[in-house]
Amino acid sequence: MAAGKGTRMKSRLPKVLHRLAGRTLVQHVVDTATELQARQVVLVTGHGAIEVEAHLAQSTRPGAPLNTKFVRQEPQLGTGHAVMQAVPCLADDGMVVVLSGDVPLTRADTLRQLLAASGGNRLALLTIDFADPNGYGRIVRDGDVVQAIVEHKDASAEQRQIAEVYSGIMAVPARLLKGWLGRLDTHNAQGEYYLTDIVKFAVADGVPVVAHRIDDPMEVAGVNSPVQLAELERAWQKKVAMQLMTDGVRLADPARLDVRGTLTCAQDVAIDVNCVFEGQVSLGEGVSIGANCVIINASIAAGAVIHPFTHIEGGAPGSKDAVEVGTGALVGPFARLRPGARLGEQVHIGNFVEVKNSTLAKGTKANHLAYLGDAVVGERVNYGAGSITANYDGAFKHRTTIEADVHVGSNCVLVAPVTLGAGGTVGGGSTITKDTPPGALTVARGKQLGIPNWKRPSK
Ligand code: UD1
Ligand code: MG
Repeated sequence: MAAGKGTRMKSRLPKVLHRLAGRTLVQHVVDTATELQARQVVLVTGHGAIEVEAHLAQSTRPGAPLNTKFVRQEPQLGTGHAVMQAVPCLADDGMVVVLSGDVPLTRADTLRQLLAASGGNRLALLTIDFADPNGYGRIVRDGDVVQAIVEHKDASAEQRQIAEVYSGIMAVPARLLKGWLGRLDTHNAQGEYYLTDIVKFAVADGVPVVAHRIDDPMEVAGVNSPVQLAELERAWQKKVAMQLMTDGVRLADPARLDVRGTLTCAQDVAIDVNCVFEGQVSLGEGVSIGANCVIINASIAAGAVIHPFTHIEGGAPGSKDAVEVGTGALVGPFARLRPGARLGEQVHIGNFVEVKNSTLAKGTKANHLAYLGDAVVGERVNYGAGSITANYDGAFKHRTTIEADVHVGSNCVLVAPVTLGAGGTVGGGSTITKDTPPGALTVARGKQLGIPNWKRPSK
């Protein structure tokens, strides 16, 4: 169900398209369904339907592509009405798991347990005890047996004392669900079709209702406001940080880490404060990440040191845009590695150096204020401060090849396509437009002129 408006977000963006840990809320839910190997996902959209549908149609996630169908609910007449829209898509022999697009962190394992509790022929409700159950549907039991869910607004004072609430998640045989939906009405405090009324029908029909009670509120937490979104984000990040530390990662401060994807760490990794990891990032043994780094889709090999304020942005792992940092490399502070940057072993990239779509072989250094784009750089090259590859002519990108042991002085412009021969030296301030011979010194700049006794103009 993702048709609700999300008024309290006070945003133009549909609520389920807000992000938690780097993924939209609704994507979390769809990913969980993928993990469950659901036969299909039926998304009920309404508010912002076009945006929500477009987002899910274009998002590519790892795992088997799910058979996703969209149904529109217009107007929105309650959760029962939302599920009614999905009925034409549901095969009679299936089990239906009802999820909310704004409840992102339910674990697939919990849903498997819920399905197991239903046994394929019972109505299974995911429930939880809340110290403050205000606003939720209460689980009304007779002895131990579940009798009904009563919505907060319809509940008696006595029922409002019940701490056990309905999470909004249920597992129900499709055939039974269809029959019960046909019997819903709007005779209640909110004048809505309550999905939760099907519990009464199950009881009346002698179908057992089971409650699968969990105790982690994060799994059923919904997002209704920016405050709740931020609280859930922190709760999730804390959990990720705890897991990393349990695995041996040394975090300077677990409260100042953000993982918006998957972070894989070998032994003895240390991460300083305020780092953001996005997409798939892997850190080899002994890697050290300085404070305030943003690292997106990168593979950083053992012993590499990423100094503070470094920005790394790779494309999808395994693609030509992936970023790789070799064993023992030193990067930053204030370095920028863009898509397709591949640094070999012991490469040094210093402050204000940008590398894009370039391969740097072992031992090469670019330590200050430089740009390397669309370049292939051999081993042990020294690339001087202020030097750049002029790789773009306004229409096309061209490659620069710098062979092994070349020494590029400061403030050089290498106008691509161009090749600097092995072992050569390029004098500082040169603008190189032709290939340079191996082993030679190449200088391409105005010759220095000395004019003795020259008088400055004066008034
Ligand atoms: C619902 C449950 C309540 C439960 C609570 C848990 C009902 C009647 N009540 O209440 O027992 O404790 O969730 O959070 O089901 N939606 C639609 N179309 C609609 C109405 C809602 O798609 O017409 C979607 C919303 O976008 C949301 C989800 O369904 O994702 C739940 O709706 P919400 O309004 O939050 O339900 P509650 O009244 O909070
Ligand atoms: Mg709600």
